[in-house]
Amino acid sequence: MRKPIIAGNWKLNKTINEAAQLVTLLKRQIPDTQHVDVVICPVVTALAAVSEILIDSDIQLGAQDLYWEEKGAFTGQVSGSLLKDAGAKYVIVGHSERRQFFNETHETVNKKAKAALKNGLTPIVCVGEMLAERESQTTFQVIEAQLKGAFAGFSADEMSRIILAYEPVWAIGTGKVATPAQAQEVHLFIRKEISILFGEEVARGIRIQYGGSVKADNIAELMRQADIDGALVGGASLDANGFSDIVKNAQVAALK
Ligand code: 13P
Repeated sequence: MRKPIIAGNWKLNKTINEAAQLVTLLKRQIPDTQHVDVVICPVVTALAAVSEILIDSDIQLGAQDLYWEEKGAFTGQVSGSLLKDAGAKYVIVGHSERRQFFNETHETVNKKAKAALKNGLTPIVCVGEMLAERESQTTFQVIEAQLKGAFAGFSADEMSRIILAYEPVWAIGTGKVATPAQAQEVHLFIRKEISILFGEEVARGIRIQYGGSVKADNIAELMRQADIDGALVGGASLDANGFSDIVKNAQVAALK
């Protein structure tokens, strides 16, 4: 059985004070993570403060990106070990916004995911097609290339420590959620690909989140799909009620 995992990607939002306020509310509103793992990913400047607040909570902390080198003359970069030092246990890698706006490539995603594992962080590696790619019916080829690129040279053991997120780019921040059937079709494809590349056992165990306009009112139906193991939530994770309702509905769906 795969334990579902709901993660909130706060993107470039919230000061340290605002982050502290939100996480204080979340702690109260999400007292139980027995059936669903819960992760929040604030901006890097808020990590340490949020980590302090989460000390007596089961909500876990993640970062939104990392650099693959440990230290040295790399102005502006933050390494996996520094994220760990700030309290992070997870890190998002290869988000489509980084691929689109910050020149993230298959190769950099690969290096970042490797560096995260080396530092004991769990990478949440994102894949997903653009609207034009879906319309030209190349979704599966795009996802296959992203998976092969991200995990080139990975062992089955390394792969078993990865979390995947399928985020169709056309569904991110648009309010246009993929239908449960559309999402399930790609999740199943991803699991089959992982099985081909790393074996059936890894494929069966790996958790695949869906991301793109997830809200409290669509999470349950998505989670009812056989290969959807939770969600990576953007906009709706910035509000305490919105995010805790998503977690609650995911918990109910997980128990069915
Ligand atoms: P939205 O939930 O705002 O569509 O964002 C999804 C996302 O990009 C999460 O990483």
